[in-house]
Amino acid sequence: MVRRGRVFSGARPTGRQHLGNYLGAIQNYVKLQDEFQCVYCIVDLHALTTLEDTHLLRGNVHEMALDWLAAGMRPEETIVFVQSHVREVTELHALLSMVTPMGWLMRAPTFKEKVRLHPENVNYGLLGYPVLMTADIILYKADTVPVGEDQLPHLELAREIVRRFHSFFGETFPEPKARLTEIPRVMGLDGVQKMSKSLNNHIELALSPQEVREKVRTAVTDPARMRRKDPGHPEVCNVFSLHRFFNAARVPEIDSACRTAGIGCVDCKNMLADGINEAFAEFRERRADLAARPDYVQDVLADGANRARTIAAATIAEVKEKMGLL
Ligand code: TRP
Repeated sequence: MVRRGRVFSGARPTGRQHLGNYLGAIQNYVKLQDEFQCVYCIVDLHALTTLEDTHLLRGNVHEMALDWLAAGMRPEETIVFVQSHVREVTELHALLSMVTPMGWLMRAPTFKEKVRLHPENVNYGLLGYPVLMTADIILYKADTVPVGEDQLPHLELAREIVRRFHSFFGETFPEPKARLTEIPRVMGLDGVQKMSKSLNNHIELALSPQEVREKVRTAVTDPARMRRKDPGHPEVCNVFSLHRFFNAARVPEIDSACRTAGIGCVDCKNMLADGINEAFAEFRERRADLAARPDYVQDVLADGANRARTIAAATIAEVKEKMGLL
């Protein structure tokens, strides 16, 4: 198989993944394996920048790795690893910090947002977040970075840091390009905000079929549809929007049955739960198998870190040489 280049992506260890994570990122990570050599990283150091839930960090890393592997990451070909296991990234972070103007970092929209929301918790690591992210990507000389729209300013910074490094020390890295995922926004069960764990409007992939059904039952539907006989408006209904992913073939039928009050919201939700449960039936089995073998998951991550380290060490040697270090 001819592969086009190297993909790198990272995700903060948020524990069990949900439908939004799956549709927006994981599914795409899995698909990219057919075309690229892929490196996927659980960025635990980035998680430390906000110092939230550090006591949950280990468990969250493990749960996320389980979801990634069960979803179809192939660790024989893809490098799956934990950021802090490859310490070269912290070295590159320090070296890149020398060519990164403070102003660039202080203007980053994500940084400004954090300062606005938590002025009492603004640490040096938070300011350097995009530098660490740049180090993640270019340590492996990745050229393609699948991310959501919210990460575009970080990717632009990464490209600027690379160019500035090149202007001092000569061509060394590919300029990493963002590759936007096709499904940027999955609505949460509240029907108002993006699906997210912190808003508790999510459906975890690891739920049992019965739990999925119960969760879907709590979803907010078309607010104008108060009674069973009222006609619905699928275009404003987040349950309907999820049918596009899990009952694609039946969308026209569901659309008209909703508009004519042929089905009620309860029927519609049951159909959605069936669709989700069917889509994740194999995932659930694989996840249970993997969860029963925690050592296997640890071995996958250790092997991933070893392979990552080999690439990282070569890059660091080259960078030190170019920067004049002995
Ligand atoms: N900042 C990214 C996020 O919050 C996570 C991340 C860290 C990342 N390093 C990366 C993404 C490198 C892509 C490439 O989603």
